Amino acid sequence: MKVIQLTDIHLTQKMEHQLFDTNPYNNFDTACKEIYRIKSVTEIDLIVVSGDIANDGDIDAYRYFFKKMESLHIPYITIAGNHDLKNNIDTVIAEIKPEYNINSCEYYDKDWYITYVDTVVNGEDYGFITKYNLTKLEKRIILNNNFNTAIFMHHHALPVGTPLVDSCMLENADDLLTLCKKYKVKFIGCGHAHTSRIWHQNDMTISVAPAVSFQWFSGTDTVKTTTGFGFKIIDFSEDISVTSCIY
Ligand SMILES: [Fe+2]
Repeated sequence: MKVIQLTDIHLTQKMEHQLFDTNPYNNFDTACKEIYRIKSVTEIDLIVVSGDIANDGDIDAYRYFFKKMESLHIPYITIAGNHDLKNNIDTVIAEIKPEYNINSCEYYDKDWYITYVDTVVNGEDYGFITKYNLTKLEKRIILNNNFNTAIFMHHHALPVGTPLVDSCMLENADDLLTLCKKYKVKFIGCGHAHTSRIWHQNDMTISVAPAVSFQWFSGTDTVKTTTGFGFKIIDFSEDISVTSCIY
């Protein structure tokens, strides 16, 4: 099973707006074109969009997002990030009725169980998983213990070495990591850091996907960006292999 993770697209209110010298719409269009090309050479089973779809939660940005995603003809999961407005996402889903958007936090393959957890705290940049959501996640993992489990979320769970974003990562990452170690979760996929990273801890792979919009300059503690952008392809067959596609 191959999954593409798109994250931090940051579509602005107006299409012509630049965000740190990049146009998020152009980057998103390029990423979608690439996904379409990749799809013609290898099967892509699922796309996970791990949050910050719109920069300001703007409803037209979500309309653009869903129309573009639908054109790929690949099932996709939409997770909200700290920049998103869930109500506006739901409004556009009700309006467009997207056919390929999976309206559930669960996806099954023969050997894999894919789920996600909400890390957004309203009005805050940092993330936190509530006790209620953590308990629900634990129940889902236990129920599906005959599968290999992969969890996606918006906020990153391990510091990437860039103080600007590490100061607003997942606040209770230790709770999640303890739970994942306990139940031998195989993969955690995050966004939010605008940085590409990967760690292997025993049998668990923890991955941060690069943003579709812009990356933070590695190690910076002030607002400083680089223009490369991209996404990750995660191959969940037998062993996990993760490829960063950077443009
Ligand atoms: Fe974010």
